[in-house]
Amino acid sequence: MRSKFAGTLIALLEAQAAYDLPIGRRIQNAIRRQLGNGSLKAFDRLPSTRALASELGVSRETVELAYQHLESEGYLIRERGSGSFVSESGAQLAQFQSPSGGRSRSLHLSDRGKKITRFGGVQDPVAQAFAAAFPDVRSFPLALWNKTASRISRRLETKALTYCDPQGFRPLREQISRYIGAQRGVKCEADNIIVLTSSQEALLLIATMMLDVGDTLAVEDPCYPGIRSALAVSGAHPLPIEVDHNGMMVETLVRRSPAPRGVYVTPSHQYPTTATLSLERRMALIDWAKANRSFIIEDDYDSEYRYDAQPISCIQGLDSSGNVLYVGTFTKTLFPGVRLAYLAVPSHLVQAFVTMRTLVDGHSAILNQAVLAEFMEAGEFTAHIRHMRHIFKARRDAFVESIDRHLSPYGTLRIPAGGFQAAWYLHDRYSEAEVRAKAERHGLLLPSLGGLFLGKRSTPGFVLGYAAITPSECEIAVQRLARILKSFQTR
Ligand SMILES: Cc1ncc(COP(=O)(O)O)c(C=O)c1O
Repeated sequence: MRSKFAGTLIALLEAQAAYDLPIGRRIQNAIRRQLGNGSLKAFDRLPSTRALASELGVSRETVELAYQHLESEGYLIRERGSGSFVSESGAQLAQFQSPSGGRSRSLHLSDRGKKITRFGGVQDPVAQAFAAAFPDVRSFPLALWNKTASRISRRLETKALTYCDPQGFRPLREQISRYIGAQRGVKCEADNIIVLTSSQEALLLIATMMLDVGDTLAVEDPCYPGIRSALAVSGAHPLPIEVDHNGMMVETLVRRSPAPRGVYVTPSHQYPTTATLSLERRMALIDWAKANRSFIIEDDYDSEYRYDAQPISCIQGLDSSGNVLYVGTFTKTLFPGVRLAYLAVPSHLVQAFVTMRTLVDGHSAILNQAVLAEFMEAGEFTAHIRHMRHIFKARRDAFVESIDRHLSPYGTLRIPAGGFQAAWYLHDRYSEAEVRAKAERHGLLLPSLGGLFLGKRSTPGFVLGYAAITPSECEIAVQRLARILKSFQTR
């Protein structure tokens, strides 16, 4: 008997018969159509190429090429031994492109718009097990923050209601330069700081102002999706460089010719493997940038949270050639809704970046900037970080124990030295997409690890966030995940 999927597909293929397209193209269109009208959803598994080819009466190669094409467009994820699945961003992209209920068939996304949609957004919207990169908002000293806010609001009066310097509120820039100078070893003045809404905005500004269409930027592989999306906006290409237990393999980058325009690194805790870039490689990166007149984007996103040792000095502070663009954020150290981050750039670039910033979102809200400046000046910010470091360390330890207790038969954890999440590598016999889909139905978020690889070698697994949940919430969630994995074992 014919499967429901093949039946629908055949009807769609027949509907296109008049267009005189090769059968492979029609299969692609028909699958896109099913995605667009919602009959295929994220994580749905497609029939094997062999099964579909026999149902449609075409060669297996034709179906294989159609699947390959849809995979290259980001609609499908294919896993050896497990099959082909609809990707999350693919389902979303198809919905965007589908004509909405017969209305407005003429409106469609540009190629760039499609590319951006394909990479998807970057933020996990909820503080739920195991959303990655989420701090604990429940432990934030909200009463103190609100008290400071009402005092500052009275002091600023209508000044808080006006436009602000697009580079950022001066007292906050002074506090930031002092803080990153003392805590992270960054060499800069308040004049080098630009206050932004997020690190993502910083990445977007850098990609727009420092890269031309067709340029390449070396990135860690696997890598933070935010930089890929920023590159998609600017029309530049990522050049994946492998990561090992000491972070990006800089020796591979050094051998690349021609040298890319720049490099993006997360040296404190590489996202997502959490490896720390060794001092030797930091120095090699600095020498490489100097020799090639390239720039280094140092995304120091959660460097404050290192649990077993002192944080390592940042690359910017080790560099004496002014080749580093340093990115930091308060969305992790305070709370995501604060919408404040910063970029430290060499003096001669400040004005150009500020000009671009005025075109993106003008400036950050004055009130939050002024409250944070006061918070930092009064020592509340560093006190909060010290307090949270204890809490997060205890959560990291509890998380590692829970994983060890319940999940060892199914995968391998890389114990994180810091940060909010850990890479957990799934054993070969499980399918990342299947486990993820089932976990989601049971209320667990499992951010994909396999999807963060750009090169040919992709390792399935998950980026498990542990900072936003208490040890007992974590234990319950890990047990639930173990039950889900067990159900695959017994099938
Ligand atoms: C590598 C990396 N950079 C930056 C950020 C922070 O981004 P934002 O300031 O845009 O919230 C995150 C967290 O999501 C991250 O993982």
